[in-house]
Amino acid sequence: MIIAVDGPVAAGKGTLARRIAAHYGLQYLDTGLLYRAVGLKLLQSGKDPSSATAAVEAAAGISDISLDDPALRNEETGNAASIVAANQEVRNALLRFQRDVAKRPPGAVLDGRDIGTVVCPDADVKLFVTAAADIRAQRRYEELVAKGETVDYAAVLADLHRRDDRDSNRGVAPLKKADDAYLLDTSKLDIEAALDAACRIIDGRR
Ligand code: C5P
Repeated sequence: MIIAVDGPVAAGKGTLARRIAAHYGLQYLDTGLLYRAVGLKLLQSGKDPSSATAAVEAAAGISDISLDDPALRNEETGNAASIVAANQEVRNALLRFQRDVAKRPPGAVLDGRDIGTVVCPDADVKLFVTAAADIRAQRRYEELVAKGETVDYAAVLADLHRRDDRDSNRGVAPLKKADDAYLLDTSKLDIEAALDAACRIIDGRR
């Protein structure tokens, strides 16, 4: 079984996808981490994330990159990820890695931006998880504060709008709901209610 979970930044799709995977005994892959790993490799080697050559080179070595580095979760890394993600060659280099995980039994839950549209267009169930921008920004703000970072809500909201805009309007694999994806708005749902709603959709499709 393959379940695709797509949506904009801080919509709650990562937590939800991890819980869905645990519930159905499936593997879980956070595909954003792959783009973040490419972005971080460039930042750490002092290269510009918008340099296509450097980004493609970093993406080619993805199977050797650690996905455990806490720096992968930084805002700066997220921004670099969103820049390298607009490059078609980078996306091609990461595609095989993602499809290999999806193909492995017993199946997987993958979360990202283009899982239902590009990576696994034949997924058994597709969810498009979203929430109002101010609620997503508030969640991200609280997450960063909990990590001990000094942040400003207005800056978090502006950054989220910038990233949404870049991810939705890029020429390659833009963030968009697949025609056959179920829309799940988590604005008014906590994680348990979101998981319930997702399981009802998934069980209905099985
Ligand atoms: O989901 P996360 O915030 O970790 O993703 C970081 C960035 O990686 C996103 O802003 C997006 O540009 C890119 N991404 C993507 N396709 C995916 C997953 C992430 O373009 N499947």
